[in-house]
Amino acid sequence: MIDIKHSVVSEEMAKAVFETLSSGRLAGTGTIIEEYERGLAEEFGSRFAVACSSGTTAVSLAILASGIPSGSTVAVPSIVPTMTPLAVIGAGCIPHFVDIGSPETVGVSFDQIKALALAGKIQAVVAVAMWGYPSSEAELAELCEDLGIVLIEDASHAHMATLGSRKLGTYGRVGAFSTHERKLLFTGEGGFCLTDDETVAVRLRALREFGRLGKNGTFAESSGYNFKLASPLAALGHVQVRSLEKRIADRQVVWGSLYELARQSKQVSPIELPSNSRPSTYGFLALAAERETAARLQNDLEAIGVLSDTKKYNHRPVYEIGIFKDHAKEDCKHSRDFCERAIALPAHEGVSAIILDKIGSVI
Ligand SMILES: Cc1ncc(COP(=O)(O)O)c(C=O)c1O
Repeated sequence: MIDIKHSVVSEEMAKAVFETLSSGRLAGTGTIIEEYERGLAEEFGSRFAVACSSGTTAVSLAILASGIPSGSTVAVPSIVPTMTPLAVIGAGCIPHFVDIGSPETVGVSFDQIKALALAGKIQAVVAVAMWGYPSSEAELAELCEDLGIVLIEDASHAHMATLGSRKLGTYGRVGAFSTHERKLLFTGEGGFCLTDDETVAVRLRALREFGRLGKNGTFAESSGYNFKLASPLAALGHVQVRSLEKRIADRQVVWGSLYELARQSKQVSPIELPSNSRPSTYGFLALAAERETAARLQNDLEAIGVLSDTKKYNHRPVYEIGIFKDHAKEDCKHSRDFCERAIALPAHEGVSAIILDKIGSVI
């Protein structure tokens, strides 16, 4: 079954991991961590990159290091997976679920953000570019600035996605990424944060590593955790950073073919992107006209060996799941509509011309 995961380990990656293992520097403090972080910062166009143990810890670190006080309320879009609001709670804050702007975008509702911030009900927003789709992060950053609230980006799906001249993950005070085995840049478990703010970078590092302030700092100078990334995993990521651009370019060919198929389809339509943007190609999103059509198509796709991410995870508004049922939410009718109609297809190098033909015949 083909799904969104496509983490092929090359010989070069295996060699780099083996070399790090052989060096005996296994913990999260080896020189490879700094090399990996330098590579990430350069490739993503950010002043600082801080590697950590997962995407969930990256989002928590982003909130904690941004100076958002414990107990603050943080707006979270309703179409995100449980990990994002769990990370908000992990950082001592409270998620407040908001809608997306329309069923044709994954971007958050500006009207709701504005109303909540002006009423003093939220102190921050976590924007999530689901399946690597840019929306209006630049305007959202301006809006948050005007409203005096903090913007964090959970860019776990959005490695190398661009909007204007910048990469997603560089619009917020901190951009948080996952490098879980299903992600575009994969280290098994892992994550990283990007920021241009030196003070925030120092806090991110301290929080990640037992409260050490600076390289020569000592433990418990400030509060902290152990959220470090192990060196062999950093070695695995470091090899991939250099080839990310080429990989996304290859995947864009598949993504473009899926876009054409969806455009010609009578049953689904593609989600349009801002003209000055590029998706990460983590997944391709098609919207069926109706919920029943989406359900039928996802079954038919599974029958030809293609698993939609939205089916795999029974995608639904996150406030319908577990502990989030008790949290405050705005009117989220677009999120519900999106969750019922969206089909998220794999758009990676392993999707062959034959599979594309089969997808075309289903949709
Ligand atoms: C949007 C989003 N944020 C955060 C996470 C958490 O990442 P991790 O599994 O690395 O903790 C995920 C994981 O799938 C995700 O999809």
